[in-house]
Amino acid sequence: MDAPIAEVRDLVKRFGDFTAVDGVSFEVRPGEILGLLGPNGAGKTTIIQMLLGVVTPTAGVIQMFGLDLARHRERILQQVNFSSTYISMPYALTVEENLRVVGKLYGLTDIPRRIDEVVKKLEMEEFRNKLTRKLSSGQLTRLTLAKAILTDPKLLFLDEPTASLDPDMAHKTRSLLKEVRRSAGMSIFYTSHNMREMEEMSDRIIFLQRGKIVAQGSVEAITRRYGQRDLEEVFLKIAREK
Ligand SMILES: Nc1ncnc2c1ncn2[C@@H]1O[C@H](COP(=O)(O)OP(=O)(O)O)[C@@H](O)[C@H]1O
Ligand SMILES: [Mg+2]
Repeated sequence: MDAPIAEVRDLVKRFGDFTAVDGVSFEVRPGEILGLLGPNGAGKTTIIQMLLGVVTPTAGVIQMFGLDLARHRERILQQVNFSSTYISMPYALTVEENLRVVGKLYGLTDIPRRIDEVVKKLEMEEFRNKLTRKLSSGQLTRLTLAKAILTDPKLLFLDEPTASLDPDMAHKTRSLLKEVRRSAGMSIFYTSHNMREMEEMSDRIIFLQRGKIVAQGSVEAITRRYGQRDLEEVFLKIAREK
């Protein structure tokens, strides 16, 4: 098997005497879509923030592209990107200006052409000159996704990427993500509370409960192991265990 894109070993995060992430180990493989699943407060966002170098782990090792995140932060972060429904951004800029800023921060060449491509892919033409603070929540979500794929990352982190989208836009977003994965060969690590989405999108799933991984594998393997019909039933079963 190819070397993993990301490797996490014995990752721990404590906030005071509360342990949010409790000894988590996993890897992200090249070109895979890996879903991180678990009840509210399980530690999903904290794990993503540690992988993005925003939150410092209490213990454990994070490697990406074979490099240690603690020591090669800048080199690694150049090749990853992130999108979340809950992100905030410069609201006084237009959509296009926001994208240009990201392009410049990442030192992209050919910024106008890349922006055109992404705007087209995400169907953002009709609001590309609108001020960010005037966008609807669905348009805002598309902008955060556009910022994330603009830089052509090798590894893309998405925290609840479709949470504020209507079913049609959520469907388009899933198709788009699968397409960029295919065409750009990127790996995607994402969270969602939508079980159908998890089933449709994920090559593998990690199930997190109170900061610990309780199940890991393909949707089929996990549902079989728990003797349930689908992921939603597995979720209910695990979430209700004491
Ligand atoms: N900065 C922080 N300080 C204290 N507790 C935090 C902080 N960030 C997250 N937590 C706690 O850690 C736990 C996991 O949070 P989070 O990673 O956001 O969960 P999830 O994304 O799975 O809903 C929660 O109990 C949350 O309240
Ligand atoms: Mg979260």
